[in-house]
Amino acid sequence: MEEFKNLKSIAILGGTFDPVHYGHLAIAEAVRKEYGVEKIVFIPSGQPPHKKDMDISNKEDRYNMLKLATANNPHFIVSRCELDRDGYSYTVDTIEYIKSICDDNTKIYFIIGADIVPKISTWKEPERLKEICDFIIVSRPGFPANNTLIVPSVDISSSAIRNRVKEGKGIKYLLPPDVEIYVYVKHKLSSKKFTHIVNTMETSRNLALVHGEDIKKAEIAALLHDYAKEMPLEHPINHGIVAAEMARNEFGIYDIDILNAISYHTTGRPNMSRLEKIIFLADMTEKNRPNYKELEEIKKLAKSDLDKAMAFALSAKIEFTKSKGKDIHPLGLEALKYYENK
Ligand SMILES: [Fe+2]
Repeated sequence: MEEFKNLKSIAILGGTFDPVHYGHLAIAEAVRKEYGVEKIVFIPSGQPPHKKDMDISNKEDRYNMLKLATANNPHFIVSRCELDRDGYSYTVDTIEYIKSICDDNTKIYFIIGADIVPKISTWKEPERLKEICDFIIVSRPGFPANNTLIVPSVDISSSAIRNRVKEGKGIKYLLPPDVEIYVYVKHKLSSKKFTHIVNTMETSRNLALVHGEDIKKAEIAALLHDYAKEMPLEHPINHGIVAAEMARNEFGIYDIDILNAISYHTTGRPNMSRLEKIIFLADMTEKNRPNYKELEEIKKLAKSDLDKAMAFALSAKIEFTKSKGKDIHPLGLEALKYYENK
């Protein structure tokens, strides 16, 4: 709520954002510059009344993708208000809510495409809507309208992106790189594994914040750390190395720290970077991990001292592997020795 205080003006951009793409971001940026609004508020729709029968992606995925896409722009905010509300989401209710959490004198704009203008009269309480906000009508190819802000015409649609993914076609340069990764990782992996990946991303982000690591790098490494986990590999312990190779080839990731964090997230190794340790520990402690006796202590140490956390986590992991009668990776043993003596 704090982010809605002390603002002179905001503009709201609603949508399903399934997924968010450069067309959405270009509209947001054009409005911000043209109207000088302080913040653009992206509101992913809950259950829109006009899309009753549509198959909309999981709301958390749409929210996560928007967060990834907007994280680097301090003028962009994402609101969960429609996602967290039960029942249909009516625009008038959403704007009333946003108005209630802003200062009284905050100017509220609502962004709509020129194609939507003729439909407003069919919405819930259109007169009330016009009282509580000002519309900004943005251009849409083929929909002439008066008083329209001409925005860059980016001919991309979320449904076209979803279809391209289903058909195995590329979506690069249609949406931000981290959203592209999110879409593909979700497409390729089972929902159980994908949930683990998203949880690992959340934990990595939190640890990155605590330790001053680059959050974007942590998110990308976490998203890709198990990308090869469900592939039939001769040595499954190598799934990190294979995933790093795929990250390079499929997504053009060349940042060596990200690639190492992916490569060594299962075995560990001596003298790991801060990012490598964060991904290793986040993978072991994300919120859905079945409880094991060392879990709480690793979580606690991960927040205060990454090296101590590594020593404790490696020892727990190696003991667990031994108890299952499996071979221990030599790098893991080297890493344990390194961190125990650090
Ligand atoms: Fe993992």
